[in-house]
Amino acid sequence: MNKIAVYPGSFDPITNGHIDVVKRSLKFLDKIIIAVSTFPRKNFLFTVEERMNFIKEIFKNEKRVEVDSFNGLLVDYMKKKGVNIIIRGLRAISDFEYEFQMALTNRKMNRDVDTVFLMPGEEFFYVSSTLVKEIAKLKGYISCFVPEIVEKALKEKFNY
Ligand code: PNS
Repeated sequence: MNKIAVYPGSFDPITNGHIDVVKRSLKFLDKIIIAVSTFPRKNFLFTVEERMNFIKEIFKNEKRVEVDSFNGLLVDYMKKKGVNIIIRGLRAISDFEYEFQMALTNRKMNRDVDTVFLMPGEEFFYVSSTLVKEIAKLKGYISCFVPEIVEKALKEKFNY
């Protein structure tokens, strides 16, 4: 039986922390579907195509990574894909409440769905897309937080 999971998120943009979570999950999964949310809950900096293209480029040599997008409820998307496992990264305790709420709500909506939390490496504990965008906006140093392709795109976006 193939072990497949969905890793959903905004990925606006993908950071080294997300990449670390994907790599860790591939130690026990046969395939991971990175599902980029298009639901406009936030003001996205990058379009869904841009966010997906970064991820595709980063994992272009990893056949076990599929990149997709979804609109609407995550549980509906998962049913369509026939996948019951969600992967999420858990950094500090501050993430816990939000993640706990989402995991239980998703399970309430579909009792077959479970969420597996992975801790990124300590060096990525404090990395967040929101902070990276803020630093980039203020023309700060971002190369330790994001892969080169994202760094380049952020620098173009904020003209530095
Ligand atoms: O990277 P993020 O922004 O923390 O990811 C949040 C995401 C996209 C996983 C979550 O908002 C989501 O699943 N949105 C899809 C709509 C949905 O199913 N909402 C109910 C979640 S309990």
